Amino acid sequence: MKVENEGSDEKSQEKRSKSLLMQLENEESVEKKQEKSTKIKKRKEIFVYGNYRKYYGYRLDRSMEEDPRLKVFKSEWFVDKDCLDIGCNQGLVTISIAQKFLCRSMVGIDIDKGLIEDAKGNLRNAVRRRLNRHTTPKDSISEDVNEKFLSKPQLSDVVDLNSIRFSSSPVDQDHLKRVLFHCENFIEDIHVCPEKYDTVLCLSVTKWIHLNWGDDGVLTLFAKIWRLLKPGGVLLLEPQPWSSYRRKRQVSETARSNFNDIQIHPCLFREILLDKVGFRSADILTEGLSGTVAGFDRPIIVFQK
Ligand SMILES: C[S@@+](CC[C@H](N)C(=O)[O-])C[C@H]1O[C@@H](n2cnc3c(N)ncnc32)[C@H](O)[C@@H]1O
Repeated sequence: MKVENEGSDEKSQEKRSKSLLMQLENEESVEKKQEKSTKIKKRKEIFVYGNYRKYYGYRLDRSMEEDPRLKVFKSEWFVDKDCLDIGCNQGLVTISIAQKFLCRSMVGIDIDKGLIEDAKGNLRNAVRRRLNRHTTPKDSISEDVNEKFLSKPQLSDVVDLNSIRFSSSPVDQDHLKRVLFHCENFIEDIHVCPEKYDTVLCLSVTKWIHLNWGDDGVLTLFAKIWRLLKPGGVLLLEPQPWSSYRRKRQVSETARSNFNDIQIHPCLFREILLDKVGFRSADILTEGLSGTVAGFDRPIIVFQK
């Protein structure tokens, strides 16, 4: 009897182990399925406003020291000027311009809250590097590394905002006062600063405004920029070509429908800004830039109010 009992104990033990094993296998396969679906979701992330996270990674040649657009910008548009960067993304170009040309003020706006948080982080990072530059004894760090690391914002990383402590040095305060980032939908929100800016940057943004708000959106963009500029102020416009719209119309139903209705193709922007909006002149700054990945070598046009 005892032997039989032992035998049935063993059997039930075996049964329990088997069912435990099956349960574990099931859980594992559920986990794997979940992992797979998150990967698919990640792959399918759609940036309806062109609000890419790694925009500069796509756009720039890896060997570039700085965004090639900075090389063609003239200092007279920025030195001691009040500037606005519409669609500033993670703020890397915005910060680089403010640092390179010492603008009087620089405001970067973007529709995407997350990108603006990144931009603020990048700004703090840049301030920290500047402070290090002023406080690190020259011989404690190789000159080469120093220059490469401290002179420009790094394109790849965004700092953890909480990990940085600010001193109240004048350099720090100056920098923070000069550059400001905030989240704003330039087409729908109110930006009340008439005739405030000497220079407005609108780089690779028109396509996204066009696809999301149609021709009316683009006309609103141009009219608003005009109102915000001081007399004599300049607009630096880098429109995406019409050929690049087709693929992106798939980002949303709105984009698809606007794409079908668009009458004002980018080749007409110049004419509209001169004849309808009222800009005095339009000069093509560059037809294309080296150091830019194919597809991003777009003309930049300078309009003067
Ligand atoms: C392709 S990125 C260009 C970034 C940057 N201007 C450059 O050229 O390096 C377009 C940016 O415009 C922003 N954007 C699109 N529509 C906007 C709107 N209505 N108001 C403000 N920002 C907008 C997106 O979030 C995105 O960061």
